[in-house]
Formats: sequence, C-alpha cells, structure tokens
Amino acid sequence: MSVKEDVLRILNENKETYLSGAQIAEKLQISRTAVWKAVKSLNDEGYNILGINKLGYKMSMGDDIISKEGIEKFLRDDVAKQVQIETFKTISSTNTVLKQRAAEGEKEWLILVSEEQSAGRGRMNRKFYSPSGTGIYISFLLRPKFLASESLMITTMAAVAVAETIDEILNEKTEIKWVNDIFYKGKKICGILTEAAINVENYKLDYAIPGIGINVKAPEGGFPEEIREIAGALLDDCRDKSLNDELRNRMVARLIEKMYDYYQDFENKSFMETYRKKSILVGKTVYILDDKNKEPLFVEGVTDKAELTVRHEDGRVENLQSGEVSVRLF
Ligand code: BTN
Repeated sequence: MSVKEDVLRILNENKETYLSGAQIAEKLQISRTAVWKAVKSLNDEGYNILGINKLGYKMSMGDDIISKEGIEKFLRDDVAKQVQIETFKTISSTNTVLKQRAAEGEKEWLILVSEEQSAGRGRMNRKFYSPSGTGIYISFLLRPKFLASESLMITTMAAVAVAETIDEILNEKTEIKWVNDIFYKGKKICGILTEAAINVENYKLDYAIPGIGINVKAPEGGFPEEIREIAGALLDDCRDKSLNDELRNRMVARLIEKMYDYYQDFENKSFMETYRKKSILVGKTVYILDDKNKEPLFVEGVTDKAELTVRHEDGRVENLQSGEVSVRLF
C-alpha cells in the first residue's frame, strides 16, 4: 500500500473525527510532511479532507470518490482475496485497457474501475457517455472454462448482478430490458458491453470482459441532447448526504461480490430467475428494429439461454437471439 492509500484508510476509518498530523504520522511510521503531502494529493484528486491548525485532518461525510481502499472496505473478505482491483481517475475505456491487459496474460478477476472514461464504448460501436464523478465504469477480466456459446450468458449474469446491487443498496426497483439494459423509472441507467476472444482450437474463450457503465447521479447540466430521451440516473443528486456517503464504493463492492458469486455458480444459471422476474418485455408486444413491416410480436418469456420467446401473428413461436436482433416496444 502506498503512503497515500494508508493515510486515506486511516482518515476513512475515523470519519468526522480530527486526527493530528503527528497521530497519523506515528501510526504509519512516517514524517508529518509525508502526511501533509499525502493529504494534499488526495484533495487534488477530489477528496474533501479538511486540515485545521491545532486540530489536524478530518474526512467529511458525503465523500463519494471511487478508490481501491474504499471498495475493499465494503468487500467480503473471501472475495477480496480472489480479486485484484485497480481504480483510475480517468481512463480511455476500462474495456479497452483490460483487453490489452488480458492479451498480456493477466489472471482472471483483475477488475478496472474508473471515475471517468474519455473513450467509453457501447454496443454496436456506439460511444458510451462517461463523465467524471457521477457514474461507475467497471470491467472484469474473466477466463471462463465453459464453451464460448455458453459465455453469451455472462452479460445476462452481469445485468442481474447490477440490478440486484442497485435494488439492495438504494432500496429501489430496477428492471431489465432484454437483453442487458437496466432501466429505472423508465430510463436506461446502465449498459453492459461484453467483449471476448475465442480460442479457435477448442471453442473456449481465452477471455471474456463484461464492462458495465452505471449512471449513478445525473451529470450537471443533464445528459447530452442525443441521449436525453433514453438515459437516466439513479439519483438526482439531491438525496440526503448520508446515502451519498461512499455510495459508489459500496455499490462497486456489492457488484463485485454478486458477479463473483454468480460466476462460481455459473453452471446453475441461478441468476435467470431474477432475470425473468425483472424482464420488462415479457407480456408486451414488440417489433424487430429493422423489420420494415413492423410485425407485432407478443413476448411470451425468456428461455434458459436468455433468448426472447415471441409469438407471431400467425401463431408461430420463435426464440430470438440477442446477437441477431434488437426489439422495440410497440
Ligand atoms: C451499451 O449500453 O451500449 C453498453 C455500454 C457499456 C459501457 C461500459 S462502461 C465500462 C466499460 N468500458 C467501456 O468502454 N464500455 C463499458
């Protein structure tokens, strides 16, 4: 752990309490100047550490900055031992960087989390709006042992992990729009992009990288024009401060635990039960996006492989695969 991380941990453990520079220095066996430097650099990163003559330093409630220590504070010990977390103030894209790291041979469960992405990517070559301080941008390096075809379900698993995390921590009710968008109050608040490399010799995956972007708070000035209709956030930033306190670290920790647990139990697909319950399209009429005739299709359910079971007007029943079609509500 670096000096900065140690100082952050101590201040975090003593929130709202002043600790003198000398006390911190003694605990860490470092100089008071080193403490001062660490606090300065933490504040430059956006933390809100107050330094008052004679009283010392104190971390205020309401801080919500993503950090490795902050996440690990809330993470179950057994999971913390198995994962390696790296956090960034800014990054091009957690998926892009993690793909490079995967190709360099990193072990599974390397997790990259960023406060901001300068080149966030969405599905179908779209951009993913990833401003600083309001979202969670996170990617997981997995090296699945199962067949590539089955790995399609990693995105489904991630969708359930996100939805359950939000419901638990904010006591809210999210929904899932087939195949992997999370909706809250009618707006998309999370998108998932899973990227993978297939080993052609055995049809297994070399790696799979589910990348998740969650809009936790509404960005100042709102979302850009082109996504304003669809995009939403979980909080409109005016909810009480205690809820805000380390909210994103808590959410990331719970999300990692859920991803970890579901992945260990992947063969049972235990996440499918929640996926079905939360699926907004079931029981509704949809049409396939590039179908010029816009034939109405009634959604009967979701299969064990996360295909959408639809009934045509002539009574034919068909299972739609996510990679092939995109649907819209009628
Ligand atoms: C979509 O809705 O089209 C999927 C969006 C996926 C965004 C996440 S944010 C973390 C990871 N890094 C990226 O560049 N994209 C994914």
